[in-house]
Order: sequence, then structure tokens, then C-alpha cells
Amino acid sequence: MGEYLLVRGGRPLEGAARVPAAKNSVLPLLAAALLCEGESFFTQVPRLADVQQSLVILSALGCEYQWRGRGLAVRRCAEAPGVLPEGPARAMRSSVFYLAPAIHRCGRVRMPMPGGCKLGPRPIDIHLDGLDKMGARVDWRGETLTVSAPWGLTGADYTLRLPSVGATETLLMAAVLAKGETVLRGAAMEPEVVDLAAFLQRCGARIEGAGSPMIRVQGVRELRGAVHTPIPDRIVAATLAAAAASAGGWVRIQNCQLEALAPTLEILRRAGCRVEPAANAVTVRRVGWLRGVGRVYTGVYPAFSTDAAPVVAAALLTAAGRSAVEDTVFENRFACAEGFNALGAKTARAGRALEIEGVRALGPARVEAKDLRGGAALVVAALAAQGETKVYGVEHIRRGYGDLAGTLANLGAQVRLCQE
Ligand code: UD1
Repeated sequence: MGEYLLVRGGRPLEGAARVPAAKNSVLPLLAAALLCEGESFFTQVPRLADVQQSLVILSALGCEYQWRGRGLAVRRCAEAPGVLPEGPARAMRSSVFYLAPAIHRCGRVRMPMPGGCKLGPRPIDIHLDGLDKMGARVDWRGETLTVSAPWGLTGADYTLRLPSVGATETLLMAAVLAKGETVLRGAAMEPEVVDLAAFLQRCGARIEGAGSPMIRVQGVRELRGAVHTPIPDRIVAATLAAAAASAGGWVRIQNCQLEALAPTLEILRRAGCRVEPAANAVTVRRVGWLRGVGRVYTGVYPAFSTDAAPVVAAALLTAAGRSAVEDTVFENRFACAEGFNALGAKTARAGRALEIEGVRALGPARVEAKDLRGGAALVVAALAAQGETKVYGVEHIRRGYGDLAGTLANLGAQVRLCQE
């Protein structure tokens, strides 16, 4: 069955871990580099599977890249047809970020429907509808999408039908080089949108209101690449916090934006963890048993993040009493429930919610990650299970965590990557 993570649970964690740059910032930032003249340089880029896939797409679109230590330089240096390579485009949802940059650079773009975690239906209608309003022509032939705008995009006043993170980022990238003004209403307010806007501004874009529901952009003729440090990954930070809550002991999470992590920390505090914030860091400590937190809901930023829901749920499996985590964003967020129950947890999926009746102990099992965050959640749960758990489906986890096993092992957990 290939690779698996071997977790020997039951050991409390102890130590500090540094949070890497956010995957959900880095992926749109890499696409945005295609909009720029000259070199863009991103410091501290994690070597995730999705980053590697992005580099294949950038190469196909005429860019060169170079790793310099942990920094990544990207420069567009050749004309290329706007055709995304099939494999990477299908492997991740983030291939959709190349729509707007490729339209600006190549006049058109052809790609299959983007892939990614199977969290329920994930249409891209808002991305396409917004581009259509800006003058692009959208054409589906079977499974293949072609979007063209040979004479460029024009600014528009556009209301997103829901605050999609990805669509806000697509339309921001479309607007910065469009003719005239674009107003995006009902935009997503996630920190990763703000980070993308900050990079684009550094490159010469004129953007106001990123981080609010209304973003105003004055199109410019040209952007010049810049140096940028992406924000820390709030989902990796949430995973570390949940790991401390699940395993017991303590973890000092360094390099994190506390505001973005606040809803996760609040739930863990309510469950009985001690949360000790400091400048750009927080220590999460569990002494004794956790208690159930009742019903909590995810939502768009600044609410509790959908991506953090599975790892927080994992920490609540052994909390005394009941909890329920309801995801308002995706229909199938808790594919990890089967794995939780194989470990001895008592959970049931009810619509978009995962209902949890806390159990005293978890035991070892063979479990399989079905998606990225659910996979991390199985590892977090296994930290609390006495005995040896094998977590398969490592390829999902690798999409968002550079080295989850190594990070947890540095904190005293017994986790390692094995080959069968
Ligand atoms: C991004 C994040 C992902 C996170 C999600 C919600 C990246 C690379 N990924 O994904 O980790 O879980 O935000 O915070 O940043 N929708 C439509 N039509 C569209 C676009 C979205 O119906 O055109 C729906 C989706 O099906 C989903 C909801 O809107 O139910 C939210 O999706 P969206 O905010 O777009 O998430 P992503 O950008 O895909």
C-alpha cells in the first residue's frame, strides 16, 4: 500500500515549532509572479507538493524559477501559449489561479477543470463569471475550459455571489492589469487575500480595501516583480495547537499571526487548554483531560476556519462530554470521520456537522487520509492513541505540510514516514 506515517501515540509533546509560510498565500503569489516584469522573490517558501506542481505550470507558461536556500525566485522570460499542463492542473484546485495571469500574458488560457481535495462540489463559476464581466470569453468544450481576451480585460463593478477566497484572488489578479477601475463587492476578507494584495501593491498595483468586503482596483499598465515574505500558515499553526491538545504536554508555536488563529485558540481554551500568547507566538498546553465544547461552527474569515475544523475535531475526540463541529463552507469536510472511529472515537456525521461523543481513550488502527486537512487530523488523533497507528494517503498530507512527521518528532512525538 506504499507510504504511511507510523504514529506511536500516548506521548505528551514538549517544545517549540516554527510555522512556515502559508500554502494558501504562496500558491496565488506564485501565479501572480507571472503578471510581473522582472524577477519576483519569495522568502521562506515551503517545499510542498502543491508548490512543485505550481512550478511545473509556471515553466509551461514561460517562466524560469530558482530556489535560493529557502527563497524562490520566479521570472517570466519567454512567450508561451496559455496552455496549462494537464497533470498539475488536475492535481490541485490552485491551478485556477493561473487563469487571470495567463489571460493577461498570453491573451487566452486553456485548462481542464482544476482538482484538489474532494470536499464536496467546488465549482469555479464565480471566477469565470467575474472574468466574463471584465470582457473575457469563456468556452467549455467537454472537460476543457478556454478563456480568452485577446484585447485585454476591462475593469468592472462586480458583486461575488458568495465571498469565495479563490475567486476574490482571481479577480484581483485580473483587475490589477485591466483597463480602468474594478470594484469587487462581497469579496473574501481572508488574510491570504490581504497578503496577495500586499505583494501586488509592492509590484506597483493600485488596490484599496483588501481585507474588507469591497476592494477597489485601478488598473495599471505594468507590474514589476518584488521581494515578498508570505504570511505564516494559520492552518499549520492550528494543527500544532490541536496536536498539543490531543497528545497533552505543550507546544510553543512560533511565527504566527495570533489574530488569524484566535478562533481555533478560543475553542481549545474552552476545551480546557491553557493558551499563553506572546509576541508572534503562542504556547498551547494541556494538563489533565479536555471537556467537550458543545456546538461550534466554521465560517468565512474572521470566523473559525473550515481548514482547521478537522484537526480541532481530532483534539476533541477524547474530551469528556459532547462536541459538534459544523462546517458551513464545504459539504464533505469530515471524510476523516471513518478514520476517527477506527481509532475508537465515537463520531457521527450529520449533514455538514461532525458530532463527537468524547471517549476516554483511543487505540491504534490502520487509517487512510482522504484529503489534506482530514489526513493531518488523523495524525493529530493518532497522537492520543496508545499503540502503533498507520496513516496511509500521505500524498494528501504532503500537499500542505512540508514535513509533518519531522515537525512532530521534534516535539517529542514518535512519528515517522515508512514505506511498505
Ligand atoms: C480556499 C483555500 C482552502 C479553504 C477555502 C475556504 C486556497 C488555495 N484554498 O479555497 O484551503 O478551505 O478557501 O476558506 O486558498 N464556490 C463556488 N463557486 C466558485 C468558487 C467557490 O460555488 O466559483 C464555493 C465553493 O464550492 C465552496 C465555497 O464557495 O463551497 C468556498 O470556496 P472558496 O472560498 O472559493 O475556497 P477556495 O478558494 O477553493
